[in-house]
Amino acid sequence: MSRRPSPRAAACALAVLLAGLAAHRATAAEDRPWLDASRSPDERARLADAAMTDAERLGWLHGPMAIPLGRSVHLPKDVLFSAGYYAPIPRLGLPDWYETDASLGVANPADLRKGERSTLLPSGLATAASFDPEVAYANGAMVGAEAWAKGFNVLLGGGVNLTREPRNGRNFEYLGEDPLLAGVLDGAAVQGTQSQHVVSTVKHFALNDQETQRHTVNAVIDEAGLRESDLLAFEIAIERGQPGSVMCSYNLLNGQPACGSDFLLNAVLKTDWGYKGWVMSDWGAVHGVADAVHGLDQESGEQIDKETYFLKLPDEVAAGRIPAARLSDMSRRILRSLFAVGALDHPAKRGTEIDFAAHAEVARRAEAEGLVLLKNRADLLPLTAKARSVLVVGGYANRGVLSGAGSAQVLGVGGPAVSLPVNAENEASQFGRVVYQAGAPTMALKQSAPGPVTIAYDGGDYPAQAAAAARRADVVIVFATRWEAEGADVPDLSLPDGQDALIAAVAAANPNTVVVLETGGPVAMPWLDQVGAVIEAWYPGQKGAEVIADAIWGKLNPSGRLPITFPASLDQLPRPAIPGADLPDHTAVDAPHPEGSDVGYRWYARKSLKPLFPFGYGLGYSRFAYANLKVEGGTTLTVSFDVTNTGAREGMDTPQAYLTARPGGPALRLVGFQKVALKPGETRRVSLTADRRLLADYDVARRGWSVASGTYSVAVGASSADLALSGAAKVTAQRLKP
Ligand code: BGC
Repeated sequence: MSRRPSPRAAACALAVLLAGLAAHRATAAEDRPWLDASRSPDERARLADAAMTDAERLGWLHGPMAIPLGRSVHLPKDVLFSAGYYAPIPRLGLPDWYETDASLGVANPADLRKGERSTLLPSGLATAASFDPEVAYANGAMVGAEAWAKGFNVLLGGGVNLTREPRNGRNFEYLGEDPLLAGVLDGAAVQGTQSQHVVSTVKHFALNDQETQRHTVNAVIDEAGLRESDLLAFEIAIERGQPGSVMCSYNLLNGQPACGSDFLLNAVLKTDWGYKGWVMSDWGAVHGVADAVHGLDQESGEQIDKETYFLKLPDEVAAGRIPAARLSDMSRRILRSLFAVGALDHPAKRGTEIDFAAHAEVARRAEAEGLVLLKNRADLLPLTAKARSVLVVGGYANRGVLSGAGSAQVLGVGGPAVSLPVNAENEASQFGRVVYQAGAPTMALKQSAPGPVTIAYDGGDYPAQAAAAARRADVVIVFATRWEAEGADVPDLSLPDGQDALIAAVAAANPNTVVVLETGGPVAMPWLDQVGAVIEAWYPGQKGAEVIADAIWGKLNPSGRLPITFPASLDQLPRPAIPGADLPDHTAVDAPHPEGSDVGYRWYARKSLKPLFPFGYGLGYSRFAYANLKVEGGTTLTVSFDVTNTGAREGMDTPQAYLTARPGGPALRLVGFQKVALKPGETRRVSLTADRRLLADYDVARRGWSVASGTYSVAVGASSADLALSGAAKVTAQRLKP
């Protein structure tokens, strides 16, 4: 029989144990001062790097994908299949670390970690449509926590490339076309992730705005245009979030490969912005060891490269082509970022229990704030109890909701409900399958209905059959989908598989037709005049079905606003044809960017074009009014105004402030936004102060931002094309560092 120790003996044993631990820690801190968390990350990085041998240092400057693929690399027996793995350095008390893609949740492309499921967030564009940094922060923190609990220390998300190309297959990973919106939201997401002792990455630096010819396309743009657009989005995200790493991109920029661009990496990122973290390559984006001289700190996914170029670093140092100090700089940057977020002090613990129910609520909120009501003829929505028979058509809505594919593919909890082979042979098809996340809209519609309702389902394969069923229903809801993936762009703005014709046929049979779009980005809507209502649900994530149903029945008041312009036609775009789309893969091709910093809505304003739906646009079940605008000048603009909910129900609005003219001419730019929740009749005063860079021009010759003195006009409204109030104020001349 075991004897339990007396409480006193147990207390003594504990005291001895604690004293031992303290002594051990003291020795550890003396012998290995870099493990002392009270020191600054810079000091810890310097000390750890100084203690490293060349081989140890090199070990973290290049690393494999942690999957048995390509050239054989050494992986531990219990390896966590993932995008990246770096071995421990036991002599220095430094643990191993893993990287995973994580833009929309912990990715598990091709189900590499068999059966492992994670919380699936809605698309980046849904988060952007929330216009709510709190949503982005919560997303980042949730993914960080889940990653940590699965054993990951570094997240490879999210993307902050501006969505210049509506056909880009990766738009679903990004945060829209405006640098302020994308930068603010990404900065918040990074903060959320890094609060969980996990490093966050911003990518793909820079101008990686099309998937067509993504390895060989050369984005051509003037420097001022670049600084005022995509680079500004990165700059804002980096300032706000302090991400531990930046991933450089596949494409070339003005003739230089992005991962070997001295301009991007050394001049802009590290010198102008004083970035202290590390630059990792995209997977397969390294061109040679010289990239290290141009600012690249780490070669990722080394098996994908023709050879592991960074293995040559010691020889380059010996030959005097790379200073030894540069190697230490590379390694210190990595160490600093890992120390700064506590990734080495609180190493990720594989197998930690995850509160999936709480995490699902994060996914729900992101979609609830990001779903955009685009059309609502005569208040067809929300449906009332009078809608007794509802026909649901298409989109596998009897099973689940669509997700986007590629390295960001998350296999959500409870899913996949449908998993289909990709009907193509291209870079996108390498990523596996077309996945519908479990959670059937038909079921959710039934559960969310205010009273008894019959929900019928028609797959939508035969428009005449769907139309016949539509005639018998009170209301028809068509779920229209367009699958998009990393590695390929979509060729045009149509819905595939005859869905445009299906919607037209159904709407002709029943005008009470609601279209729910599950698309990666904008689509054309040739049937728009025929249908009663349109919802852009994006890829709606794990709770997508429930959120869509709640919006349709009115349990939820839609509040998303478009973060990307929906074009009326392709000829409105700066590049009506995607550069290189007609050429064999891996052909070098230039992609001119005549729009410069006039991305999205700014291009439409410059060219006086009317899009299908403008940036910032979205409806809800309340109405909002703006009044009492006050514009104050000085070194920048401060705009304050009242927003009132004039509708009958509680709701959220996102009033937006745009610069409309500056000394020298017109200039439409978003300078501020704020999401506000208001009860019926409630008024709130909103005050927004413009980031001065949004008033400025980037002056290449003088290397910095330049604000001209004069009168600046500003307008406040519900979208970039609906500006209710306007005013102006004087701003003083000033110069700002780059
Ligand atoms: C993608 C990156 C991703 C990496 C690792 C690349 O193909 O472009 O976004 O992080 O793979 O999976």
